[in-house]
Amino acid sequence: MAAPRVIPLDAPLGARIEDLDRESASSPAVAALLNRALAEHLLVVVPGERMTPQQMRDFSSAFGAAQRQLLRYKRSGEVPEVSVMVSTLMDDGSTDKTALRAEDWHTDDSYMAMPAKATLLHSIEIPSRGGSTWFCNMHSVYDALPEATRQRIDGLRAIHAYDTVRARNRPSERTSQEIAETPDVEHPLVRTHPDTGRKALYLNFNRLDRIVGMDREESDALLDELAEEARRPEHHFGHRWTLGDVVIWDNRATMHRVDVDYPAGEHRIMQRVLIEGDKPF
Ligand code: OGA
Ligand code: MN
Repeated sequence: MAAPRVIPLDAPLGARIEDLDRESASSPAVAALLNRALAEHLLVVVPGERMTPQQMRDFSSAFGAAQRQLLRYKRSGEVPEVSVMVSTLMDDGSTDKTALRAEDWHTDDSYMAMPAKATLLHSIEIPSRGGSTWFCNMHSVYDALPEATRQRIDGLRAIHAYDTVRARNRPSERTSQEIAETPDVEHPLVRTHPDTGRKALYLNFNRLDRIVGMDREESDALLDELAEEARRPEHHFGHRWTLGDVVIWDNRATMHRVDVDYPAGEHRIMQRVLIEGDKPF
């Protein structure tokens, strides 16, 4: 097969990889190409056939070490590093709550001391319409802030928690073991991308609870002001799923959300892998 090609999307972030043999992805040259594309474009779309959990874990090793996700009930039996995310909408109200929570902008696992570097999501079953996943470029959000705001937030730190009163929906229940594994953590409000040196606003509407050293009123006002910039469509791209796509996003400089606008009862099932990350700085 020809060497893979990186085709930038006509969007604020994202590139499509063409002519990639997924089985060769972890060879050093191809893995380097994929990681460069991820750092530069923040979102990489790899079209192709559906993969088994085993094949997906092997493919994901191009991006780093696969990490088991917190919620045990989502881990796939055969390959625990691969989660099965069921976001099917059920008429009887039995929809997995995390599907609804993903409806607002977030970055994965920011409530962890070492949040995932990247997430891979792979479509196994998709509804007949709707269910796009949207991405927000947090470098461009940071760059678009007024200079005075950038100076004000420089050096600020924020508390991220498994749940926060600021989030619209409540998260899935944790077992006592999972609660013990997820104490609140502190991260910089502006983080530096370790590969490119670019700054990104590090927000998460589902987990970022407050700014360290501010009372709630002042903290809420600042977070609302920053959120307003992140909600502007000029920073966004929506991926419309084709069966078998693998989409990889950089959690260090993006947020994402899903359109929960697809028909009830139609299956929407994804396989997901989180890639180990570093301590944000
Ligand atoms: C996720 C997520 C959105 C989607 O897997 O972390 O937010 O489109 N998924 O399913
Ligand atoms: Mn997510």
